[in-house]
Amino acid sequence: MQFKTAVLASAVTISMLSSCLEPILAQNTHRAKVVSSQDEAARFVEHLFARMTLQEKLGQMSQLAMNDYEAPVAEERIRNGQVGSLLFVTDPEKINHLQRIAVEQSRLHIPLIIGFDVVHGFRTIYPIPLAIASSWDPQLAEHVQSMAAREARSVGVHWAFAPMVDIARDARWGRIMEGAGEDPYLGSRMAEAQVRGFQGEDLSSPDHIMACVKHFAGYGAAVGGRDYDSADISDEQLYNVYLPPYHAAINAGAGSVMSAYMDLNGVPATGNKFLLTDVLRKQWHFNGFVVSDWGSIRSLTTHGFATDDQDAAVRAVNAGVDMEMTSHVYRDHLAEAVKEGKVQQSTIDQAVRLILQAKYKLGLFKHPYVDVARSRREIGSVEQHKAARAAATQTAVLLRNEGNLLPLKNDLGSIALIGPLIDSKPDTLGSWSLAGDVGATVTILDGLRNRLPSSTKILSTKGVEIDRVQPSIFDAQFPSPKPQMKTAEERKAEFEHAIDLVKQADVAVLVLGEAQNMNGERASRSSLALPGEQRQLLEAAVATGKPVVLLLMTGRPLDITWASQHVPAILNLWYPGTEGGNAAADLLFGDANPGGKLPVTWPRNVGQLPIFYARNLTQIPEHPETRYWDGSSAPLYPFGYGLSYASFRFGKLALSKDVVRAGASLTAAVEVENVSDRDGDEVMQLYTHQRAGSASRPVRELKAFQRIHLKVHEKQTVKLTLDTNELRFWSTQTHAEAIEPGTFDLWIGNSSEATDHASFRVEP
Ligand code: NOJ
Repeated sequence: MQFKTAVLASAVTISMLSSCLEPILAQNTHRAKVVSSQDEAARFVEHLFARMTLQEKLGQMSQLAMNDYEAPVAEERIRNGQVGSLLFVTDPEKINHLQRIAVEQSRLHIPLIIGFDVVHGFRTIYPIPLAIASSWDPQLAEHVQSMAAREARSVGVHWAFAPMVDIARDARWGRIMEGAGEDPYLGSRMAEAQVRGFQGEDLSSPDHIMACVKHFAGYGAAVGGRDYDSADISDEQLYNVYLPPYHAAINAGAGSVMSAYMDLNGVPATGNKFLLTDVLRKQWHFNGFVVSDWGSIRSLTTHGFATDDQDAAVRAVNAGVDMEMTSHVYRDHLAEAVKEGKVQQSTIDQAVRLILQAKYKLGLFKHPYVDVARSRREIGSVEQHKAARAAATQTAVLLRNEGNLLPLKNDLGSIALIGPLIDSKPDTLGSWSLAGDVGATVTILDGLRNRLPSSTKILSTKGVEIDRVQPSIFDAQFPSPKPQMKTAEERKAEFEHAIDLVKQADVAVLVLGEAQNMNGERASRSSLALPGEQRQLLEAAVATGKPVVLLLMTGRPLDITWASQHVPAILNLWYPGTEGGNAAADLLFGDANPGGKLPVTWPRNVGQLPIFYARNLTQIPEHPETRYWDGSSAPLYPFGYGLSYASFRFGKLALSKDVVRAGASLTAAVEVENVSDRDGDEVMQLYTHQRAGSASRPVRELKAFQRIHLKVHEKQTVKLTLDTNELRFWSTQTHAEAIEPGTFDLWIGNSSEATDHASFRVEP
């Protein structure tokens, strides 16, 4: 049914392009028939495959970046069959032009697959992935990525380098913003939802793209949170914490996987046979293809792993990397390596088959081109903006709201809007919004102007500037001027001006955090402080005695310990995306009610890192002061925490049974009542703890959750199912995964500190 719709939708494209497609269809009769089964895909590929030279096969295994170095030679290489894929081309006319060269001028007429970092939107930018995880709503994650897929596919991008499913427990790591946070269960639900969103049920539909799960595996554990550094992960942590989101994404049908940059336990991930073959292919039966990360094959020599470029190519392909991103050691060295017997011909053939099958499933042999007029209608459509605004309201996390300062009253005489991020379009989008429409972005200032009546005066100024010391690799993306270097006097005058505005206003909203280029790739930090003089600005604003709201824009938890004691209201937007300003206004004035929950434990300071809730119980846990003598070891805000303008009362927890067989399920039910005069969302979370077994198990582990919406005074019995298969874990003692019979604790509530408790037994 879905498939038929797709065919109909592309009928216009076919008729428009039929004149140029005819000769191609005639050259390859297989293209005339679109078939859906795996077997037929394989048959199609075999027929084509039989005619390929080794050089043409290596071409399919090579991806070229349309950057300054490669773009000038791209057309010639495509024509010569030396390129199977491109990245960093997003203009539909340009894509059609390059595709035409591949399809009409190369010997075998094989279409290109175009990849791009569609991380949290394409032109319309959605909240960053860490924010999407804060929604605790897999359906939202699915919807957002399906919207992103629609825009991307309309221009001819077929392949998203996303979702990034790396578990991250150290906020120094800049790429924490790209994933779903610290927890394998939440991470798995978000991973599979995003794959469904990108790929839909039919990859050949004009609305879907192939997912690429990255970065396999363990990148989030880079030592010290330093980007690209090695990760040392025990098998226990690898199987129980770092791999589950990958496994979930692959079970959801992810078409491709990207290898990682770092060493895992001393072996570079891109040359790691254990990861790429033993786990991925043999244990999980993955049948898509693996692409390297940018230049990560050639850098196997940098790691002190491969002796030279040829050795790097040999090790990567033998480990299981099918396509090389950007460097060209495959193209330059694999033919020779096959001749010398260092690589089996069958290894190359297998890689090429997988790549061609992916192109086939994407429908590229039948529909290689895009309808440029259609892409103009899709890009930045009203529907996209609506979805982006809704997503940004559902992902914000209310961290503090003393005296119900929020939502703000509608009849304010004046509001001071202060901070370096109040009117910055790039920073509202956040990192990894490479094709984002900066111009269409609604900043916080825009959002308040749109929302407030003319009777409310908005007094706005930055107060302080923030800038990253070292430039970011992505700076060129945003043409906005860098902040001018101001003299000390000018800076002082600006600071004082801001505080004067706070004094004049009824309420002050300070928009503080990090510039977008302070997190993402190559954007790790050794501090979690608010950059620049933002903390001083906040303290001075609070010292005026005016009510102050802190709106955070950040890609990582920051050190806001002072604010958590002195600023009455703190609302974390993360980076909210294109419609961020409108969503912020919706939330500030109560048109929307925050319901997000933290997908990461929020530390008090950088010294607590890495920090996560699912730690093991060890010696005298009831005395946390034994952990650090110079400060608390408790987080500032726990995993799963977040407030609402509504309040909820929980009834008594009831389990459907207190003895359950391994492999069966039980239900935990609890009545939730909205006892406020506002509609709102709550996220019910179920945690378990195994009391004893072949290994110590974490104090709590998330095993089920559900976000619910309750109207004023509405009651609902929430039933969370605990599948005992979720209690399965890999044990260092047995070297195997099992559900271990015994006694378990269970808690249900609205954060990882839930107190409603019951216990149950699992029997063999
Ligand atoms: C390097 C990054 O690590 C990866 O996540 C990204 O997809 C590629 N560059 C392409 O931009």
